[in-house]
This record gives sequence, C-alpha cells and structure tokens, in this order.
Amino acid sequence: MRLDGKVVIVTGAARGLGQRYAVRLAAEGARVVAADRLDCAGTVAQIQAAGREALAVAVDVADEASTAALAHTTAERFGRIDVLVNNAALYGGLEPKPFHQLTVAEWDQVMAVNVRGTWLCTRAVYPYMARAGGGRIINIASTIYMTGVPLLAHYTASKAAVAGLTYALARELGAANISVVAVAPGLTLTEASTGMIRPRYIEATAQQTALRRNVEPDDLEGVVAFLASDDSRFICGAVVTVDGGLAFH
Ligand SMILES: NC(=O)c1ccc[n+]([C@@H]2O[C@H](COP(=O)([O-])OP(=O)(O)OC[C@H]3O[C@@H](n4cnc5c(N)ncnc54)[C@H](O)[C@@H]3O)[C@@H](O)[C@H]2O)c1
Repeated sequence: MRLDGKVVIVTGAARGLGQRYAVRLAAEGARVVAADRLDCAGTVAQIQAAGREALAVAVDVADEASTAALAHTTAERFGRIDVLVNNAALYGGLEPKPFHQLTVAEWDQVMAVNVRGTWLCTRAVYPYMARAGGGRIINIASTIYMTGVPLLAHYTASKAAVAGLTYALARELGAANISVVAVAPGLTLTEASTGMIRPRYIEATAQQTALRRNVEPDDLEGVVAFLASDDSRFICGAVVTVDGGLAFH
C-alpha cells in the first residue's frame, strides 16, 4: 500500500472531512493520529475495525502547548511524523453574516483556529520531520478565497491566509526536504455545509461548476492520499483546487 510505514496526523478528525481523510489514509497503510478538540473515538474505532492502527489525541490547534503535546505524543507512540494534514478549522456552525456585523471576537476566533492553528501545528511537527530527513504538510484551504463568497468574510480571509502560509512555508521548509502543499476544496456536501448554507445557494453553486455538481467527500479523499504519498513527492507549494471547475487557479 502506498502509505505503508507512514505516520500521519490529521487535525479536525472527529467528524466531517477530517474523519474521512483519517479513515482513507489508514486504509492506504498509514498509522494515523486523529486529533481534534472533539472526541475522535469514533474515527479510531472505524480505523481499527478495518484492522489498521490509529490513536486519538485531544488537541486545540489554536493553543501552542496543546499542539506541542500533539507532536510529542505522536512521536512517542509511533516514533516519527511523516505527514501532517492541517484540516481543523472553524467552519461548521459559523453564522453567515454581513462583514460589519461580525464581532471582533468572531473574527479573532476564526483567525486563531484556521490560521494560527495551521502555523502552530506545522511548527510543532517541524523538528521531528527535519530530524528524520523530511516530511509533508498538507494544508486545507478552500476555493472560497478565490471566488469571494459573501457573508463569511472572516472565514474567507482565513483561507486566503492558509494559502499564503503554504507558499511561505514551502519556501522555508523545502531545504529540510519538507514539502508544503494545500488542497482547496470547493463547496463540499458535509454536514457542516448543509447545516449552514441554504439549499438554493448550494444548487446555484453546483450550476456554476464546469462539471455541474458540488464536491462530495469522496472526491477529496484520494487527492489527500495522493498528496500524502511519495507519488506526489515533487509537488511543493501548490494549492490544488478540487471543485469540479469552479475557480480556475
Ligand atoms: N465543507 C466544505 O464545503 C469545505 C470547503 C472547503 C474547505 N473546507 C475545509 O475542510 C475542513 C473540514 O471541513 P468540514 O466540512 O469537515 O467542517 P467541520 O466543521 O465539520 O470540521 C472541522 C473540524 O475541525 C475541528 N476543530 C475546530 N476547531 C478546532 C480546534 N481549535 N482544535 C482542534 N480541532 C478543531 C472540529 O471539531 C471539526 O471536527 C475545514 O478546514 C474546512 O474549512 C470545507
């Protein structure tokens, strides 16, 4: 299997897309650390039921000490860290509202989790990857920052920042043989999306894509598995859009 022997951390792995990535990466041979501020027992149970190895770790990605503990626990249990999927974000449960009605607290919270969290998790795993001779960071951005969706200004800006961080860190970490990439999904039919976005808007977005449908979680899992594998070893600094042709990037 193409991820045999690899140790992968997936943040935000308790539900939604993070859970799907964790299960798929394990199915491709990786030993997976499922990390979230929510309980990842369900994710780990799915992986173990398929005969693979996984560990649940509680983490708040916005908290420095918590991210350091995540990297330490992973290395202690599995001896190495090969891949980090920075998937955790404040997305599900956000209340769409005009930019001038967002509170400073709402703005700061989204930035703290989505941007600072991506930076902190990367910073926490970096020494382990560097010591081992390399690694792969997969950030989860969104095509939302390319298309400019209204009523989610803080979230949209945070995903643009994730792309910027991807470019900056690709340059900085490349010398340590750590390649940093991002995946930018289009509107994906997870519970987080359908709970937040009106059906009329979801359908209109589908019609704007070249392939005339929104993203299904299945469309993303294989891309993340490919980016975690050696097959993609010379992709670095890329933001890979997976949106059926919504934003051409
Ligand atoms: N669903 C979409 O349409 C879509 C599109 C583009 C990008 N994305 C991105 O994909 C990722 C997953 O999306 P989803 O639809 O599964 O959303 P989701 O809200 O269901 O999942 C986010 C996960 O992150 C976790 N999380 C939040 N704050 C955290 C923190 N401080 N520390 C640790 N974990 C934390 C949540 O508990 C949750 O499990 C997110 O990065 C999202 O921005 C989603």
